[in-house]
Amino acid sequence: MDRRISAIFARRSVRQFTGARVLGADIAALLEAGMAAPTARNLRPWHFVVVTGRAHLEKLSEIHPHGKMLAQAGLAIVVCGDTHTSPEYWVHDCAAATENVLVAAAMLGLGSVWLGMWPNGDREDPVRHLLRIPAHMGIMSLIAIGTPAEAPEPRTQYDPSRVHREQW
Ligand SMILES: Cc1cc2nc3c(=O)[nH]c(=O)nc-3n(C[C@H](O)[C@H](O)[C@H](O)COP(=O)(O)O)c2cc1C
Repeated sequence: MDRRISAIFARRSVRQFTGARVLGADIAALLEAGMAAPTARNLRPWHFVVVTGRAHLEKLSEIHPHGKMLAQAGLAIVVCGDTHTSPEYWVHDCAAATENVLVAAAMLGLGSVWLGMWPNGDREDPVRHLLRIPAHMGIMSLIAIGTPAEAPEPRTQYDPSRVHREQW
């Protein structure tokens, strides 16, 4: 592991949280990180729904089939993309924004996990309805974030067999 990129390795999926609140300054930093992602034609189609209310976090934990940890999370960020603004690239841009939030969370000492939304239509409708997300917004991901109650080890998954030098 090259220590110069330690934040990349420190980002691990955290699925257990203490339930503690997350500081407003940390939430602001996470959103700033998300909006610093690369974006096709610089269209920035992303929108972020920040959910800190316990009632909605509990409802989200029931809606998402792998989202039980949301009930103990400090917040959830739902990453949405405007399909009118960028019909071709909102998916790519919102995936990049999601990863930026995850890495920033690790840098802030927070735990986080990417809960898949797109392209699973079945979980999309109840989340859209609960959070009143407009129909032309794609929903890329639901990110559970909070004070970690587990500490997965930083790791590299470097695999030389996946590298093809000069030619395949
Ligand atoms: C598109 C996508 C969807 C994911 N959905 C879920 C999910 O629904 N529940 C979950 O616990 N983790 C989910 N993950 C996290 C992966 O399980 C995790 O990144 C993978 O196991 C590697 O572990 P690491 O994140 O600790 O490196 C998702 C990751 C991606 C990229």
